[in-house]
Amino acid sequence: MRCGISHLVIFFTVAISPCYGRAFETRAWADAEAACRKISSVISSQSAVFAPGSPQYSEGTAHYATSSSQLSACSVEPGNVNDLSKILRIVGKNRVPFAVGFHRSSPYFFRLNQIVTQVKGAGHASNPGFSSTPGVHIAMSRFREVTYNKTSGTVEIGAGLTWIEVYDALEPHGVNVPGGRGNSIGVAGFTLGGGLSWLSNEHGLAADNVVKYDLVLPNGTFTSVTKYSNAELFFGLKGIVTKFTFRALPQGDVWGGSIVILEDHINEVTAATFKFGCSVLDPKAAIIVNYVSTQGTPTAFLSLFYNGPVPPVGIFDDFLAIPALERNISTHSFPSWIRSQDIRHVDRNYDHTFSATKYSETLLTAIANESVFWGDVLNGQQSFRNVYSVEPFLPSAFSQASAVTNAFPPSRILWLPTSINFFWEQSALDAVVESSLRQSVEHLTLVAKGEGQDVDSLPVYNNYALFDTSLEKIYQGNLRRLREMKHRYDPENIMGLTGGWRF
Ligand SMILES: *[C@@H]1O[C@H](CO)[C@@H](O)[C@H](O)[C@H]1NC(C)=O
Ligand SMILES: *[C@@H]1O[C@H](CO)[C@@H](O)[C@H](O)[C@H]1NC(C)=O
Ligand SMILES: *[C@@H]1O[C@H](CO)[C@@H](O)[C@H](O)[C@H]1NC(C)=O
Ligand SMILES: *[C@@H]1O[C@H](CO)[C@@H](O)[C@H](O)[C@H]1NC(C)=O
Repeated sequence: MRCGISHLVIFFTVAISPCYGRAFETRAWADAEAACRKISSVISSQSAVFAPGSPQYSEGTAHYATSSSQLSACSVEPGNVNDLSKILRIVGKNRVPFAVGFHRSSPYFFRLNQIVTQVKGAGHASNPGFSSTPGVHIAMSRFREVTYNKTSGTVEIGAGLTWIEVYDALEPHGVNVPGGRGNSIGVAGFTLGGGLSWLSNEHGLAADNVVKYDLVLPNGTFTSVTKYSNAELFFGLKGIVTKFTFRALPQGDVWGGSIVILEDHINEVTAATFKFGCSVLDPKAAIIVNYVSTQGTPTAFLSLFYNGPVPPVGIFDDFLAIPALERNISTHSFPSWIRSQDIRHVDRNYDHTFSATKYSETLLTAIANESVFWGDVLNGQQSFRNVYSVEPFLPSAFSQASAVTNAFPPSRILWLPTSINFFWEQSALDAVVESSLRQSVEHLTLVAKGEGQDVDSLPVYNNYALFDTSLEKIYQGNLRRLREMKHRYDPENIMGLTGGWRF
């Protein structure tokens, strides 16, 4: 066994470090350690258990944001579904809290939370406790397969991969799937949260392109589901997904790049974004407009994308005409384009969102103002930075599957998520940031309602939503069916031992 006796010794000797203030009760900690030892005695040589202090433990439990990390009793790396079943049975039987994730990494404004009671893959969830635990941390890093089957036109993707790894593996085959928009987003959390992609206007959300899920149910039973074999589980997965099978899409070179614009010209960004949103109907074109405030200095950071080597004349002209501090645009392979999208490791980060029916000029101006306003209010506070990301999708992004097939999104009409990310350094500011985020979302919601947008009827994107967002807002009319499923598939509330949205 890979985890050998030395790890068992470490379990007994490592004390809870005093710097982890939220002390986990001593007895519960002992139970978690006992579960770790039990797991280590039953798993095959393809799996391993790592104790605090080992590099594999640190790698397995790390998050890109310290605001979402906790000390776990051990990190377990299952190497096959059989061992994952055993692990889940042990934590379930002993009622030991657990989390599922895989490693640190994050682009700075694309966030992944877990959805339903499934568990996420990438350690991107910015919500505390969503993918971290004081109990058993299950690191999915050994589920790393990418297999393109030309005959069936499908790609099998392990739940422990990041999207850039998937894009790299698929590029030689000239195929792709709609995945994460930034470098190093994890496959599992992103897909389970729906998954808005650069290819969504053409092909829908990531989840709309999944044809089969392999998963371990809460009671430890392994199963594979398609919408034909088990429409119910396919709709509202319960358990831990180990593999996603996507339909493969053809992929060639893409045009894209980033532009950084200084404060003086942010009004022009707003005008160009408004015009783009109401005039560009080409589904191959997509943008993200980020209003950023870094220690009180506003900038705009644009990501422009076209799924083809050269965009049609005119589509992006207004953006390209704005005087820029930096402009780096070229034709590249899809993986190279994704790599060009910013990644920053951060200290503390919370993410929140609201949905709109349209990006009017009034709303865009209000969003830009929010970034400046909160940047000023919190300036001086520990390198405070905020990013308000505007994502003008087309209705076609949401119409490729139905709300009956996938639990999220529950409404297939157009809704536009704005991702609001605050970044800071010290936990002392957590409560202030949380309250500021809420006020900001409230204000923007009022602005949208003020111009007649029926914001309350729109789903909230769960990959961006703050931790206590009500499930009604995320799943709307699908929530009841999900709750019924919860009782059927997880009567003992095993998934209640992990974080994330609770049913
Ligand atoms: C590829 O898919 C075809 C059609 O579904 C199947 O018959 C074949 O076994 C698959 N190949 C592999 C290597 O899995
Ligand atoms: C421009 O982007 C490419 C990748 O798309 C990157 O390799 C290069 O370093 C960037 N150049 C600048 C000046 O940022
Ligand atoms: C800017 O945002 C703040 C905070 O939401 C708000 O009080 C203020 O009225 C806004 N200003 C403008 C010009 O919209
Ligand atoms: C596990 O749960 C599934 C779905 O509810 C059920 O079909 C299966 O019989 C259960 N297995 C065991 C061993 O209880």
